[in-house]
Amino acid sequence: MKSLRVAMLGCGVVGSEVAARILGHGEELAARIGAPLELAAVAVRDASKARPGVPSELLTTDAAAAIEGADIVIELIGGIEPARELILSALRSGASVVTANKALLASHYGELMKAADAAEVRLEHEAAVAGAIPIIRPVGNSLAGDRITRVMGIVNGTTNYILDQMDSEGWDFDTALRTAQELGYAEADPTADLGGHDAAAKAAILASIAFHTPVTIDDVSVEGITEVSADMVETARAQGFTIKLLAICEELSDSPEGPGVSARVYPALLPREHVLASVGGAFNAVFIEAEAAGELMFYGQGAGGAPTSSAVLGDVVSVARRKVLGGRGQYERRLTTRLPVLPISA
Ligand code: HSE
Repeated sequence: MKSLRVAMLGCGVVGSEVAARILGHGEELAARIGAPLELAAVAVRDASKARPGVPSELLTTDAAAAIEGADIVIELIGGIEPARELILSALRSGASVVTANKALLASHYGELMKAADAAEVRLEHEAAVAGAIPIIRPVGNSLAGDRITRVMGIVNGTTNYILDQMDSEGWDFDTALRTAQELGYAEADPTADLGGHDAAAKAAILASIAFHTPVTIDDVSVEGITEVSADMVETARAQGFTIKLLAICEELSDSPEGPGVSARVYPALLPREHVLASVGGAFNAVFIEAEAAGELMFYGQGAGGAPTSSAVLGDVVSVARRKVLGGRGQYERRLTTRLPVLPISA
């Protein structure tokens, strides 16, 4: 059985987990896909730096060369360039691409999807919003026949961790931020987390998919948590509220500009009995209202290497199965015989 060549661009907290799972669970993944995955190259900025669990011979600083001949490219560099050029080049070469790059998707979604369509390959990005929580497929596929009216979410783990620790433990802002960084939740430059821009990028992606309308990060009104003090958290608490950084995307019929899609991110006062108020730590949650489905709630780990690697690998298995089947058959699900079914006892 011919293996599928995988090139990974970037090998940080998430990339190391993805590589470890591709290398450590090879047989199981091969059974699900119908062909083995071969991790052929891992492009990094500094190939002399050891990456635990990643054989050094796979490391290269030449990302363009790593893409050549790849069936699947996993982009985990982040940021706009060179990620955009590398993804476009991978798509044009016939590779399917899996990315967690919210900043790029929030500004170039249309261009990238058009390139994927033109090349007749897939561009998947479940990991770009809310870490491990399956939210892109539910919103984009499962609810595609419904009409979503509102998406309301806690979509940044770092700020939720900070606000939660300030509220539940009485920590000060700096201690909570430092711990969030140590736990691998925060971006390399946490300004994007604290200023609400990371959540705004995710809001733009969710709004685009939920409302079938191109929404970019520039369309999102943003206010972060840098002005939220321990006193404000305490005062809110004493009055029966908690402060959460919320991303709210909704269809408005009565805005002064007429009907349309609105997306905003801001620290909101939530009554403590609200379903989103109990979302603690670096957890994320997305609450959806749709005309026919009614209310839906998605909850899980929104940041960190292992949880985010789960979403990346789900996409990898999906695009790999499509490669194997050439678009025919049940590419999303495949039953294997890894485990026997236990007999009914008693
Ligand atoms: N820094 C991000 C967060 C990582 O804290 O949610 C996941 O996108």
